[in-house]
Amino acid sequence: MFVLIARQCLLRYFLVVFLVVFVIIMIIGFSIFTTEDHEVFINEPILHDEPDHHEAGAADAIKESIKHPIIMWWSKFTGQKYEERVCGDVTCVFTEDRHYKNHPNTKVFMFYGSDFNVNDLPLPRKPHHEWALFHEESPKNNYLFSHADIMTMFNHTCTFKRESDYSITTQHLPTLDWLEDTQYLLSTGTKNSYLDELAPIMYVHSDCDTPSDRDTYISLLQKYIKVDSYGTCLHNKDLPQHLIDPIKGMLHKDFLNLVARYKFAFSMENGICDDYITEKLWRPLMVGTVPVVLGSSKVQDFLPAHKSAILINEFKTVEDLAKQLLFLNSNDAEYEQYLRWKKTGVTNKYLKKVMRDREWEAPLDGLPSDGGINFIEGFECFVCKRTHENLRLLKEGKPQKLFQASLEHYGCPMPVRFNSLGQRVDSSDWAHEWHEKQKIAKALRYYIDRGKNFTLKELHEFKYTPD
Ligand SMILES: *[C@@H]1O[C@H](CO)[C@@H](O)[C@H](O)[C@H]1NC(C)=O
Ligand SMILES: *[C@@H]1O[C@H](CO)[C@@H](O)[C@H](O)[C@H]1NC(C)=O
Repeated sequence: MFVLIARQCLLRYFLVVFLVVFVIIMIIGFSIFTTEDHEVFINEPILHDEPDHHEAGAADAIKESIKHPIIMWWSKFTGQKYEERVCGDVTCVFTEDRHYKNHPNTKVFMFYGSDFNVNDLPLPRKPHHEWALFHEESPKNNYLFSHADIMTMFNHTCTFKRESDYSITTQHLPTLDWLEDTQYLLSTGTKNSYLDELAPIMYVHSDCDTPSDRDTYISLLQKYIKVDSYGTCLHNKDLPQHLIDPIKGMLHKDFLNLVARYKFAFSMENGICDDYITEKLWRPLMVGTVPVVLGSSKVQDFLPAHKSAILINEFKTVEDLAKQLLFLNSNDAEYEQYLRWKKTGVTNKYLKKVMRDREWEAPLDGLPSDGGINFIEGFECFVCKRTHENLRLLKEGKPQKLFQASLEHYGCPMPVRFNSLGQRVDSSDWAHEWHEKQKIAKALRYYIDRGKNFTLKELHEFKYTPD
């Protein structure tokens, strides 16, 4: 009996000691990880070529005999441990394993834009190290790429910009056949009959404080015309329960049927950048509802036909837009002009060409057909082929090709807000973010170009002084 109690006491004693030690370790560990002044070690570039000894296995990896150029995803992104991939008549090794960082064959570091971390870069950058940027997402995710100091550090790009090396502006458009589909299309008469229960326009968003300031615009417009808002932003109408899931709901047949009942649907991106176009544009077009667009200033280039959407940019004030929407809502013949392309098919030659030329597939379920590729695989092979091209030139004793990105490969404008007339004038918190990233871009570039060490604090407090 006593022995048992004594044992329990001892056990309790050990548990308490263990807990105290554990908590202390956690606190120390946490304070290390949250220290602002993380040193980013940049040794003298070029001169040193030793493996990273702190990474177990790096010493072995660097000695491995590998026949092909190595292309390393610096961002954990594709999950590739070590994959030899054939791209046409050349082969590259794709890996996420950083043990190969200093392997002599490692030619290219690939970055996923949203995960690009100034505190974790493959530095010092050696002269033969090329950098590749894959960034298909909204400018909202990282304003660093809106600045030339960063963009010109990259050699290869895959972004939504048509100017990028491997452009994916139509990343959310499955096919032209899909776009031309008429299974959801309702006649104007049917749409009119829904006007008793539905507004002429729908809005569905749950990300409310965005750099595009779309909610402000909608609340201004609501003074003139009824808007049904199903998302959490400016919510005034409920979706049926089975459609509330933001991903599955939006692809549901019932949701598409609901969109089709409206005359118009807002197609408003969360961030504004040329050629940044998402399913928010393509979905209403597909179901036969006229999109009212806030997004790329050059969206006209990608519309199925000359008259197929209403562009907010073309209206001086929100009141002007409201007048036009009310006019179209009560003039069927005028309204139907915006849907004529649904009968003739896509007439935009540029869009047709872009869709014909793209070698990748972007199906709604994300799974390419047998033998088809997605744009990530496509970009990987694009970079692999460029790498081989230069290796061949080198072998032939010829000068290598220069691959260099420019601001146009991503670069998005400073975010602005709407004033009370719906004109873009004021600046915003998002503009502050854009300016902050501009400073960091300049600082980062300064330190990387000079092979200098820097801390996060130094990046944030950087003031340029010419050397
Ligand atoms: C960078 O920091 C490391 C570690 O503190 C140091 O060994 C190295 O000499 C520094 N390099 C430069 C260029 O200052
Ligand atoms: C890659 O970009 C860097 C930085 O602009 C540049 O110095 C280097 O020459 C480029 N490499 C190639 C192969 O074009």
